[in-house]
Amino acid sequence: MAGKLMHAVSYDGYGGGAAGLKHVEVPVPAPNKDEGSLDTWNYYLRTRCHIVTTDVAGEVVEVGAGVNNFKGGDKVVAMLSPFTGGGLAEFAVAKKSLTVPRPPEVSAAEGAGLPVAAVTAHRALTQSAGIKLDGSGPRANILVTAASGGVGHYAVQLAKLGNTHVTATCGARNIDFVKSLGADEVLDYKTPDGAALKSPSGQKYDAVIHCTTGIPWSTFAPNLSTTGKVIDLSPGPSAMWTFVVNKLTFSKQQLVPLLVVPKGEDLDSVVNLVKEGKLKTFIDSKHRLSKAEDAWAKSISGHATGKIIVEP
Ligand SMILES: NC(=O)c1ccc[n+]([C@@H]2O[C@H](COP(=O)([O-])OP(=O)(O)OC[C@H]3O[C@@H](n4cnc5c(N)ncnc54)[C@H](OP(=O)(O)O)[C@@H]3O)[C@@H](O)[C@H]2O)c1
Repeated sequence: MAGKLMHAVSYDGYGGGAAGLKHVEVPVPAPNKDEGSLDTWNYYLRTRCHIVTTDVAGEVVEVGAGVNNFKGGDKVVAMLSPFTGGGLAEFAVAKKSLTVPRPPEVSAAEGAGLPVAAVTAHRALTQSAGIKLDGSGPRANILVTAASGGVGHYAVQLAKLGNTHVTATCGARNIDFVKSLGADEVLDYKTPDGAALKSPSGQKYDAVIHCTTGIPWSTFAPNLSTTGKVIDLSPGPSAMWTFVVNKLTFSKQQLVPLLVVPKGEDLDSVVNLVKEGKLKTFIDSKHRLSKAEDAWAKSISGHATGKIIVEP
């Protein structure tokens, strides 16, 4: 591949939205010792990188000298470094530690949706909320906010694997979709009961997988069980303040700020759940790489249902 050029989409400054993206021709990146290069299908993720996005699925074309678990032609799912990005391009270089095999049952598009969103949902439920996905734990009450989004739609499905009772919030247009994922009760977030997060059957939540922003602790607290936790995926200053105050006052209810640093084993777990038919990637829309700005605009609108996929 040395000397060959590829099409990529880059962002050379912060801000500017979809209009800030530039279509460029750049050299195909070469793998270092512990890396492999692959041709890609991409899930768009907003970052400040030169070539944007981190979540890719594709086929290995070349491996570095230190890679002995993959070879050319292997189908894979990978997560690229959030610091360097590189996903919105015809070829990308991935670390072997964040690359996992993609079995034939998992399409490139389904696989490309998984890395950040499904791994975050998996980690929030299994590690922060303590849910056992084989359903062997005590039956917990879970609330998933923004259950129609990328992280949320995986969180609902995974929570149901754990034999939990799931209440979910989403917009009116997605209520049937979120029910189809397995949610037991669905609230329209634009109604008074939805805004108050009140379960129609009066459930108190043992854990909230909080996939949106702008909901104050005072709204969560009355809806939590005595030891309920809010696992906040986008904690702002107010959430961090609540975290500190709850710790200092020995509150049994907790706010848990979560920043997931994915590991290959997490990625392998969610790919295998898709392979076994236990988890699905719902695709909001697919866009050609030549029209990546449409994917970008859709993503930053905050109104996707499931995942946005970019194809080479
Ligand atoms: N901590 C981490 O490691 C990590 C990793 C990944 C993501 N995140 C964060 O997790 C959050 C979710 O990301 P995402 O990609 O899943 O979002 P997303 O796909 O953009 O979510 C869009 C969906 O959320 C719905 N929605 C918007 N506001 C809502 C509200 N107030 N209540 C209920 N539903 C609402 C929208 O419905 P309508 O169109 O009907 O409004 C839309 O279907 C983001 O804040 C992201 O930064 C964190």
